[in-house]
Amino acid sequence: MLRSHTCGQLRPDNLGEVVSLCGWVDRVRDHKGVIFIDLRDRWGRTQVVAGPDSPAGVLAAARAVRPEWVIRVQGTVGMRPEGTANPKLATGGIEVGCTVLEVLNEAVTPVFQPGAADLPGEEVRLAHRWLDLRRSAMQENLFLRSRMVKIMRDHFDSLGFIDVETPVLGRSTPEGARDYLVPSRLDHGSFFALPQSPQLYKQLLMMAGFDRYVQVARCFRDEDLRADRQPEFTQLDVEMSFVEADDVMGVIEGLVQRTAREVLGLDVTLPLPRLSWDEAMERFGHDAPDLRYGLEIVDLTSIAGESDFRVFRAAVEAGGRVRGIRVPGVAERFSRKDLDNLTALAMEGGAKGLVWLKVEAGGAWAGPVAKNLVGPVGDALREKLAVEPGDLVLIVADSFDVTCKSLHMLRKRLGAELKLYDPDAMHFSWVVDFPMFAHDAESGGWASMHHPFTAPRPADLDLLESDPAACRAVAYDLVINGSEAGGGTIRIHDGATQEKVFKLLGISPELARERFGFLLDALRSGAPPHGGIALGIDRWVMLFAKLDSIRDVIAFPKTQKASDMMTGAPGTVDTKQLVELGIRVVVPPKPEAVAAGEKKEAK
Ligand code: AMO
Ligand code: AMP
Repeated sequence: MLRSHTCGQLRPDNLGEVVSLCGWVDRVRDHKGVIFIDLRDRWGRTQVVAGPDSPAGVLAAARAVRPEWVIRVQGTVGMRPEGTANPKLATGGIEVGCTVLEVLNEAVTPVFQPGAADLPGEEVRLAHRWLDLRRSAMQENLFLRSRMVKIMRDHFDSLGFIDVETPVLGRSTPEGARDYLVPSRLDHGSFFALPQSPQLYKQLLMMAGFDRYVQVARCFRDEDLRADRQPEFTQLDVEMSFVEADDVMGVIEGLVQRTAREVLGLDVTLPLPRLSWDEAMERFGHDAPDLRYGLEIVDLTSIAGESDFRVFRAAVEAGGRVRGIRVPGVAERFSRKDLDNLTALAMEGGAKGLVWLKVEAGGAWAGPVAKNLVGPVGDALREKLAVEPGDLVLIVADSFDVTCKSLHMLRKRLGAELKLYDPDAMHFSWVVDFPMFAHDAESGGWASMHHPFTAPRPADLDLLESDPAACRAVAYDLVINGSEAGGGTIRIHDGATQEKVFKLLGISPELARERFGFLLDALRSGAPPHGGIALGIDRWVMLFAKLDSIRDVIAFPKTQKASDMMTGAPGTVDTKQLVELGIRVVVPPKPEAVAAGEKKEAK
């Protein structure tokens, strides 16, 4: 054995033992001729000492080592001298007096030091991920991830779920994103799609009688990336037979409680709060609202309709809404420039501007449009918003969608900037009763809010034909701290309803047969009522670790541009491979070339 202990293991109890340790040189210090090496491995750090009294050659060898070299030391465990113990380190009471030092591997000067406080930019860290992952913070993130997945697996195992693997090479299931395609070598012009989720396979497992399925499943979506989105990510995918929404939600609530207790020592009270989608949009402007703080949206449309203020009237007459939020007690803290910044943010959300109003000591409105809000309209606004002197009020007048988007963005920014919540707080809730459909701007028709296999509420079945916009789905999203941490639905389990929904989505019977014939056939061969959910594991870990970036909980993530800085993927392939696949690459002209061409023409 190369080592007797790990670098995180030795304690004063081991005093006098002869031990051997292996690891990376984290730091070397020369203190008046005595060399201190911090030796690091995944378990911790131990101080190794070599001095003039060490056996011949050891001091010189210790002096020669450099950060990130891999070494093996042998020595005797001693107590650190009085006053030099490090209470922050588990091994901080002891040190190892080195008698043998063996270099297992030298290292070039690292691009950055994993132990250093000042880190390079993320691109450098991603390009040298093996160094980045040596950092204790990154190691902790991945250990936490492993622990959380273990808790999830144990939870479902104890409830009788069976873990089934589903194909990665398959046919696309529409989850609303673009597919990653894999060309077929044996059938030129045909492509597999990497799964956006195992949605149809898990439904077919229910039709096959497995009753309770779970899988830690990799999903692939070629969509615009954000801090909480990766092109490949991992779901905890669940499906159950003979259930209603409450049954699925109950299983997940048990998991929430267990994970919060075991990981954070938090007691979560069940059942979790539930908001309908309509209520979430009305009160918070978003379908995954952050409920750690208030700043609720107040509807002012009817009051605004009575006003002469052009901006308000125009929105109301166009069938839109006038909505605002009251930010208590902050009027004095917001300068003109701050308010310009908030206006710019509201406009990013689509608003044409932002009405801001401050409440003066006597209760009067102050602000650029205050003069438009005198008399009964001003009074009605004061009452509806329940303002106090010193409050700031932000109002957007536009379509319902734009008011939602802009006010949500303002709410989010203000919640963070004004520190309206305890960063350690965790808030879990459900948003339920989503609309079945949303307008699809591209086709002008309907698109599924979740996916086409979602069941309408039984009471809304007739609305499928008469008023699709009003039709609500048996759908539930789990929200943690304003982040969509999971989503699921009860599924359509009869072929006729499924065909009806396909039709509404503009999928012709021929296309439905071509793409989903197997599903329609299976639905007609004894399909049990079923439903399920998928949790975003990466997001759960990110939220439980209180991190802002999903990349910090993934060992080898992609950048915002969906590329891998370390391996260089995606990369070009050999012509031979392309020929085998029957693929010819049409490379679009580079932007520089186009610009050069334009210049030439201009001359
Ligand atoms: P949905 O599309 O809502 O549902 O996905 C479920 C959960 O997966 C996470 N997630 C992501 N995480 C990281 N990067 C991404 N690009 C990404 N996209 C989604 C979110 C989300 O809540 N088949 C259905 C589930 C079902 O109906 O059972 C589905 O995939 O946390
Ligand atoms: P204007 O007369 O267009 O300069 O607008 C007067 C004030 O109303 C400005 O402070 C704008 O930012 C604001 N404003 C304009 N349009 C809207 C809108 N749709 N919603 C909220 N405020 C608006």
